[in-house]
Amino acid sequence: MPIIYAKAPGKIILFGEHAVVYGQPAIAIPVNKVNATARVFPNIISDSNQIRIKAPDIQLDADLSDLPAEHPIAAAVRLAIQAAQVNKPPSLTLQISSTIPMSAGMGSSAAVTIAVIRALTDFLGHPLLPDEISVLAYEIETIQHGTPSGIDNTVIAHQKPVFFTQDESIQYLNVQQPTHWVIADTGEKTPTRDTVSAVRDRYTEDPTTYTRIFDQIGQIARDAREGLIEGDINLLGKLMNKNQRLLKLLGVSSHSLERQINAAVSAGAPGAKLSGGGRGGNIIALAPSELTEKIASALHDAGAQHVITTTLAKGGQ
Ligand code: PMV
Repeated sequence: MPIIYAKAPGKIILFGEHAVVYGQPAIAIPVNKVNATARVFPNIISDSNQIRIKAPDIQLDADLSDLPAEHPIAAAVRLAIQAAQVNKPPSLTLQISSTIPMSAGMGSSAAVTIAVIRALTDFLGHPLLPDEISVLAYEIETIQHGTPSGIDNTVIAHQKPVFFTQDESIQYLNVQQPTHWVIADTGEKTPTRDTVSAVRDRYTEDPTTYTRIFDQIGQIARDAREGLIEGDINLLGKLMNKNQRLLKLLGVSSHSLERQINAAVSAGAPGAKLSGGGRGGNIIALAPSELTEKIASALHDAGAQHVITTTLAKGGQ
């Protein structure tokens, strides 16, 4: 039996990706159907301070002391031990697993980091608040993604829908009416670091045009906030389609994303867009509740690798 077990959900961005890197607001929600888990097994018979890390999903089975400083899981473990203010942690095995699709815009790296930090700091007798965990996870995200906005670590650490703006305090969405969503993975993978840098190149070349696009995306996120609280699917659908047109102008859509988006809209989704870094990864479609299964099967038929349905419930859980 593990002595401590911690879990962190996946996430999906509903509005505002890319523009959020330039100071605009974005909205993301946790996806509880998929998650990362970390389990701590103390080695009570050993006094060696050995920390063994096992993550079979990524073929990792190594001692912490053999992993380089920039290894994201090793870095998360070291940061957690430091945060717990423990000089010599006891010998233990940390087991990590995840059902979150990797490199698909569902926050798998941030969720693993957060599960690890939460499990270890709890185990070491120094539990942290969501805000503190989020700050530590952001440090690890910078190793993997360069200069992330911080939306992934924020929504996953808080496990609540967030209206997120860099450098501003986090705002939760107090949802009054549920909405239903279908997430489909194109199976195409482009690292977020690459799409963020491609958008940066365009912005540097023509700041006026791209600032205008970011401003419009930011306004969509602001308008969507009320729509999400009230469950106004007509408004939300229109805003998603508009957000997708602007993401296309940023150059982050792709043929396979467009195919998925068209399939969702043809099956009755009032709106659909790419989610996350783009040029592959996921689309997200808004679904009237009676059409959720129809939209999900249309996305499968259009070649999606994984399809996940999720509900943003009243109260935002
Ligand atoms: O690919 P994801 O889901 O991690 O999302 C990236 C979102 C961006 O706005 C493109 C980058 C960021 O750091 O916010």
